[in-house]
Amino acid sequence: MRFAAALLCASLVTISVAQQKSAKGFEGKPERGRYLAENVAMCIQCHTPREANGALIRSRAFSGAPVFVAKPRQLSSWAEFAPRIAGLPQYSEAQMHTLLTTGIGREGKPLRAPMPTFKMTREDAEDVIAFLKTLK
Ligand code: HEC
Repeated sequence: MRFAAALLCASLVTISVAQQKSAKGFEGKPERGRYLAENVAMCIQCHTPREANGALIRSRAFSGAPVFVAKPRQLSSWAEFAPRIAGLPQYSEAQMHTLLTTGIGREGKPLRAPMPTFKMTREDAEDVIAFLKTLK
């Protein structure tokens, strides 16, 4: 009995520590998030407008752009525009975390291709979010 009570206390302490952490918000590392968004998950390739020659316009990185690849014939669902994600105007941090770790958007379903359904780790998602939040 005493053991069960101790266990209960320990788990209550754990829960309250976890809640304190989430109340403070995510603690992502923006520099690592930049690396993931620009060089690994390649968000920049779709969400940034391009010059006529196809080069990315770096001064407008992540400000939204027409999709630069053609729709494969087999797909019926396809998006023609990748919206602005600099500053994360549309998504709360929690919604964005769900999108990046499960691929499910704020309307409860995956977004249309070619937006990938990411299954990032919590840490990767937090870092990407922290980076996008630093952009104007
Ligand atoms: C291959 C192209 C491509 C890549 C790579 C890509 N996206 Fe997207 N993204 C899109 C398209 C296209 C849409 C629009 C989907 C739709 O309208 O259903 C989109 C939509 C979104 C949205 C939803 C915006 C809204 O208004 O609902 C967010 C947020 C987002 N992307 C974030 C990211 C992040 C973060 C990454 C990198 C980790 C990324 N995307 C990588 C193409 C891409």
